[in-house]
Order: sequence, then structure tokens, then C-alpha cells
Amino acid sequence: MTTSKTAITAAPIAPVLANRWSPRAYDESYEISQHEVLSVLEAARWAASANNGQPWRFSVAVRGTELHAKVVEGLGGFNQAWAPRASALIVVSVQKFHADGSENKGAHYDAALAVANLTIQGEELGLHSHQMAGILHAKLHENLQLADDLEVLVVVSIGKVAAADTLQGPAYEREIAPRTRLTLDEIVLHGKP
Ligand SMILES: Cc1cc2nc3c(=O)[nH]c(=O)nc-3n(C[C@H](O)[C@H](O)[C@H](O)COP(=O)(O)O)c2cc1C
Repeated sequence: MTTSKTAITAAPIAPVLANRWSPRAYDESYEISQHEVLSVLEAARWAASANNGQPWRFSVAVRGTELHAKVVEGLGGFNQAWAPRASALIVVSVQKFHADGSENKGAHYDAALAVANLTIQGEELGLHSHQMAGILHAKLHENLQLADDLEVLVVVSIGKVAAADTLQGPAYEREIAPRTRLTLDEIVLHGKP
């Protein structure tokens, strides 16, 4: 059985938001379609960004390809134990500088908005994503031959969820743990209804 991790909320939220969660158990037989990849990338492309700067860049590595092997090499040890079974690994990098050479201090914020769009669009398609910062940034930069002005930010796994018991050890424990959040009282400093 696959795990249900629907958020418990004080007021209804869109089902794609409530149902999104970050699995580690992926169905290693599921092949992501070109349509699905295009759809999540389009969702990312249409995210808002400061001055419409769009500093995000994506490298899509579908399982079984040469590129995928290069991305797997750039995952941290814990993530290497489960993420390669996802249908694809998407490396997100950001342009660190504006066209005039000044630092883009909002690049990470903008890229996070694009990744949020990507994960929600995936959910709409019945695909689950898992963002990973536990990665070897320099290794990914080198393996993907990224330009010097790009900074590797995260790798996002995407695919169909599999049963939790396809995992072992800490990954299994985390898979079956309930999802928790701070309360609204803790995070809303002013104006909570
Ligand atoms: C920027 C970022 C980096 C993360 N890095 C990792 C990671 O390296 N390995 C991992 O297993 N989970 C990672 N996660 C997943 C978080 O642990 C997870 O999103 C959080 O526990 C909330 O769970 P949920 O996404 O299921 O709601 C990361 C999430 C984000 C947003």
C-alpha cells in the first residue's frame, strides 16, 4: 500500500496542495512521459520572479540515461539510497548575476517559486516530487558542465509513489512518519483570524 500524507488544515486548501508530500519510495518501473516532463517544466517557467528575471535553469535527467548516472553521482549518500529509483532527477541551478554583472540577491527566492510550481503541477499529474539539498554541488556542476555563473541549488526527484516497505532503515522510518508542521499560532506573527 502507498502512504497517504494529506495535510490536516484549519480551513480547506486546494487538493494538490493538501496532497503534496515528499516521498522516498518511488515506483522504479514508472517511466515519466515527455508530456509530463513538459508540463512540470512549463509550470516552473510560468512562475513569478523579481523583474521577470527568471534566473532558474533546469537539467532533466530521466532514469536510465547517461545524464541520470551523472546526477546520481552528485547526490549525497542518504539521498543516493532512494532517489535514483524516481522516474527523473531534475537539477535546479540559478543564475547568480544580473545582466549588468551585479549579484542577483533574489535568485534563490525566484527559483524556489519555480520549483514550488513544478512540484504542484507534478501533483496535479499524480506525480510526487522530493527536493534535495543533500547534494554534492561541485560534482553536479562539473558532471553537467554548467556555466560558471550558475549555482547548483537543489535536485528534485519526480515519479510515482511506491509502497513504503520498498525502503529500509532511516528512509523507511521517515516514509511512515506523520507529516508535522508548526501551528498557525507559531508562524503567523500578526493578524491571525
Ligand atoms: C530545499 C529542500 C531541501 C531538502 N533536502 C532534502 C534532502 O537532501 N534529503 C531528503 O531526504 N529530504 C530533503 N528535503 C525534504 C524535506 O525534508 C521535506 O520537504 C520536509 O520534511 C517536509 O515534508 P513534506 O515535503 O512531505 O511536506 C528537502 C526539502 C527542501 C524544501
